Amino acid sequence: MKINILICVSAVAISVTFISCSSSKKITASGTPTLKEAYKNDFLIGSALNSQQIEEKDSSAARLVPEQFSAATPENIMKAEIIHPQWANYNFDLADKMIAYGKKHNILINGHTLIWHSQLPAYARNIKDVDSFKTFFNNHITTIASRYNGKIYSWDVVNEALNEDGTMRKSIFLDKLGDDFVTEAFRLAQKAAPDTKLYYNDYNIEQPKKRAGAITLIKKIQAAGVRIDGVGIQGHWHLNKIPLKEIEESIQEFSALGIKVMFTELDIEVLKRDFQGADVSQRVASNPELNPYVNGLPDSVQQQLANDYESLFKLFLKYKDKVTRVTFWGVADGNSWLNGWPVRGRTNYPLLFDRQYKPKPAYYKVIGLKTNSGSGESAKKPF
Ligand code: G3I
Repeated sequence: MKINILICVSAVAISVTFISCSSSKKITASGTPTLKEAYKNDFLIGSALNSQQIEEKDSSAARLVPEQFSAATPENIMKAEIIHPQWANYNFDLADKMIAYGKKHNILINGHTLIWHSQLPAYARNIKDVDSFKTFFNNHITTIASRYNGKIYSWDVVNEALNEDGTMRKSIFLDKLGDDFVTEAFRLAQKAAPDTKLYYNDYNIEQPKKRAGAITLIKKIQAAGVRIDGVGIQGHWHLNKIPLKEIEESIQEFSALGIKVMFTELDIEVLKRDFQGADVSQRVASNPELNPYVNGLPDSVQQQLANDYESLFKLFLKYKDKVTRVTFWGVADGNSWLNGWPVRGRTNYPLLFDRQYKPKPAYYKVIGLKTNSGSGESAKKPF
């Protein structure tokens, strides 16, 4: 199945064309494989897309995304507050466009996300009685998952249900439905979307305590006879602190449960932040000292970023039989949520493409692992 999909998504031209924003001049890199070409026999390479990109209103991304990526995840538009804004009203407009975009460009779409405590619409957050909440929960999953059954490749069925110590996160889902809400979400998704892969997705689940909690959760779903196909390790990590040992252990332990492993929201923080993860409720006050690279990234940091990405992709390749997708959380640095979190208004550099959508040294390192020299040097010249 995976092989068929990879063959299908890789049937594209090998040459790369980038637009230089300053000159609008095309720079062609003929002969150099793109990310999805380079990794076509290993795993899917994905990106989160914002609504401008889904609607192809961002011309640089419109060119770059189909060249570079074989998978995509909507960054926001399938979250409950957007797709299900009122009790009886759904807004499928952008989600339908996402599906059409994937079909047009042979990009596999991962739905994100059916059940998440964040970005819930106000009416849902304010439901008081358990029966009404159950009705919302059932309707939400069933309506959305069945609409896209057979059209969408996979769903993050439940997102971020765990605390750092591996216990269940306090949320309206836990409060109204109890511990079993995760299993019940998968049961409903399985029924509504029998042709769609179903995943659990979370950040920091490579860390031992939270990983143990995720393993307990997954075993519980399996013990109930409910299908779960994979786990998404989000992968919001920090420069020079990539937890390679924990990531490797996690790939081994999760895949031992008989499920696939994905890295679903990859980015590397280069700015100061004292905590790891992606809890959107954590905020830090703005301060110029926390935003030191407004005019560009120093070479030493750029190089460290490249080395970190190279180490990560080496590890992913070592486990390519278990890892089925690596998705970056954003196309290019200017799109990244890390420009606004946890400190608003910073200039961050967490991805493989810069603000002009041009490939960074980290890109060449990642491509270089799949070219002859293995160092990235041979991929440098054509660009
Ligand atoms: O939609 C409103 C818009 O109407 C308004 O004008 C604008 C003004 O700020 O805000 C818009 O909403 C923003 C939304 O993104 C869409 O752009 C929210 O303020 C902003 O908080 C929200 O941030 C998203 C965040 O999830 C919120 O939950 C990020 O873009 C998105 O990258 C991030 O993604 C999450 C994953 O879903 C789950 N894992 C962690 C990851 C990073 O936080």
